[in-house]
Amino acid sequence: MDRIVVRGNGPLNGQIPIAGAKNACLTLMPATLLSEEPLTLTNAPRLSDIATMSALLRSLGTEITSMQDGKVLAMSSHGLDNHKADYDIVRKMRASILVLGPMLAREGHAIVSLPGGCAIGARPVDLHLKAMEALGAEMDLRDGYVHATARGGLKGGKIDFPFVSVGATENALLAASLAKGTTVITNAAREPEIVDLVHCLRRMGAQIEGEGTSTITIQGVDRLGGATHPVVVDRIELGTYMLAPAICGGEVELLGGRIDLIGAFCEKLDAAGISVRESDNGLTVARKNGRTKAVDVTTEPFPGFPTDLQAQMMALLCTADGTSVLEEKIFENRFMHAPELQRMGAHIDVHGGTATVTGVETLKGAPVMATDLRASVSLILAGLAAEGETVVNRVYHLDRGYEHVEDKLSAVGAKIERVHGE
Ligand code: EPZ
Repeated sequence: MDRIVVRGNGPLNGQIPIAGAKNACLTLMPATLLSEEPLTLTNAPRLSDIATMSALLRSLGTEITSMQDGKVLAMSSHGLDNHKADYDIVRKMRASILVLGPMLAREGHAIVSLPGGCAIGARPVDLHLKAMEALGAEMDLRDGYVHATARGGLKGGKIDFPFVSVGATENALLAASLAKGTTVITNAAREPEIVDLVHCLRRMGAQIEGEGTSTITIQGVDRLGGATHPVVVDRIELGTYMLAPAICGGEVELLGGRIDLIGAFCEKLDAAGISVRESDNGLTVARKNGRTKAVDVTTEPFPGFPTDLQAQMMALLCTADGTSVLEEKIFENRFMHAPELQRMGAHIDVHGGTATVTGVETLKGAPVMATDLRASVSLILAGLAAEGETVVNRVYHLDRGYEHVEDKLSAVGAKIERVHGE
């Protein structure tokens, strides 16, 4: 198995380009199932999760042509010949559940494997199923699969989520776009990836209002056309690389970065004494002198502080001046990186959903284990500022969400390399 070796190498300077968003692309790709006409995504990220979604869609009958080194995905679902999303693909990636809504809406039936557990939490899909039932579908759970039918097609309805779910909102949006009548989603997720999905569906001819707010109204249409849609920039990749100069010192420009996508995160960086400013090509982050200040962080749905940046933020706070309290409110088991950071000399106390981080002068390099996507990159960030060598094992987690991490970081002066396993 590949591993990544990082050596602390002082301040970072230069530019890092930010790719299209994994979590937008994973909900945009299933939209192809809603139409017989081609859907082309540009600015697509090159990641193993995108390859998994492509394999899933191909297994249902979608034709996908990847162009421009994988940045353009031309998809066509004019004829779907299989309505079963198999466990062997779904178990690799939970976002596979996002084919349920569009297949049900277009074909009136779908069989989708339940995703199973995940390192960061139980992550059930009950809200997805309830949303489909609110649109008139019948759900039957059998042998680890959801057997869904919508005789006579889906019908518009009221979907009131008890708490915010990004995935369930996306599945409901995809399904309601072709449902007969009006659907109103309340307590909807407001993430930029949701807004990007609505913009794409609108290009295909959908009638939707309220994206980015908690109430979204969808007027179902009989059919959707084709479209070409640019994937929004990846705010989580952006935040991750903004933390590199914050942790090591220096000044880095993030090409394509947008402050409106990560306002709450930027506020915390500002409070920690890190300068963030808009530049002609994106955002510039700098830490010239002095230690980072301790700050408290609580993860929340957008526009709050993103849970997908919690692990990376913890890496920064490990060497801050003072004690920081991090509260993880979205997932029940998302501090797996803490014991690994402790192996590097960090002082972290975890109690349930709260981690108390007492900053130390410096971290020390050590062999560490990646447990999930965001935990893996937080260990790389910590290694950039640590004395000596850090070896991050199981980096296959990383490749799910970050393209060419070692190239992007070494371009701004980091000492980082990938060692290929047997
Ligand atoms: C999306 O996951 C992202 N994944 C996650 O990013 C991200 O952490 C999460 O949203 C929150 O922002 C993708 O977009 C592919 P949720 P999702 O439904 O949709 C519970 C990354 O690192 N819940 O908003 O699965 C759930 O268990 C990944 O890129 C139910 O109980 O998240 C969680 O505690 C990790 N029942 C909470 O809601 C449901 O039916 C929020 O989950 C659905 C969710």
